[in-house]
Amino acid sequence: MLVRTLERSDVRVGFSCGEPSLDVFLERYAWQNQTRHNLGVTYAAIDDWTRRVVGYFTIAAASIASDSADAPLAPGGYSEIPVVRIARLAVDTRVQGIGLGSELLHAALRIALEESTRIGCAGVVIDARPEATGFYERFGFRPLGILVGGGATRPRPVPMWLVIGSVRKALG
Ligand SMILES: CC(C)(COP(=O)(O)OP(=O)(O)OC[C@H]1O[C@@H](n2cnc3c(N)ncnc32)[C@H](O)[C@@H]1OP(=O)(O)O)[C@@H](O)C(=O)NCCC(=O)NCCS
Repeated sequence: MLVRTLERSDVRVGFSCGEPSLDVFLERYAWQNQTRHNLGVTYAAIDDWTRRVVGYFTIAAASIASDSADAPLAPGGYSEIPVVRIARLAVDTRVQGIGLGSELLHAALRIALEESTRIGCAGVVIDARPEATGFYERFGFRPLGILVGGGATRPRPVPMWLVIGSVRKALG
């Protein structure tokens, strides 16, 4: 399936992944965050016939303060570690379970790998829903203890981490 950056004409209404906040984000905020505020870029899998978004992820450049994590993220004693953050990933319930989530995650990991050679990126971080940690563990992500700065969102997301050296392995 075609995966590319979100376009204005893509049909975002009606997307339903089982987690309402991810549906609302796609419908109301993804486009303006991408084009007006430059807070992140959303990549969408599009149904050719209907132009409906059937899956998406949002990705952004980020950094983690070394002393906020409970394990060393990179050698060298740097205080800030550059990372790529997969802020959201979701697949419409009508097409879950046929490999689209994996395809989207692979697309995000390929972007991280490219960024690691262009501007530096020591790894990929995901704020996973507790119900989805098993999905990410299949690709080598492991929970990352964040000692400070947790948000007020409930249920609290589980930060997960994949060091850039393992991304190629995750891509098979
Ligand atoms: C999690 C999600 C993205 C997975 O998408 P998907 O298209 O169904 O995933 P795939 O079809 O690529 O599944 C790949 C494998 O992961 C497994 N898997 C899927 N969701 C899983 C989960 N929540 N926990 C553990 N394993 C999971 C599948 O069973 C499949 O295993 P198999 O290869 O042995 O058959 C999708 O279920 C979703 O959008 N859920 C709601 C939103 C959400 O939780 N997003 C992620 C958190 S930010």
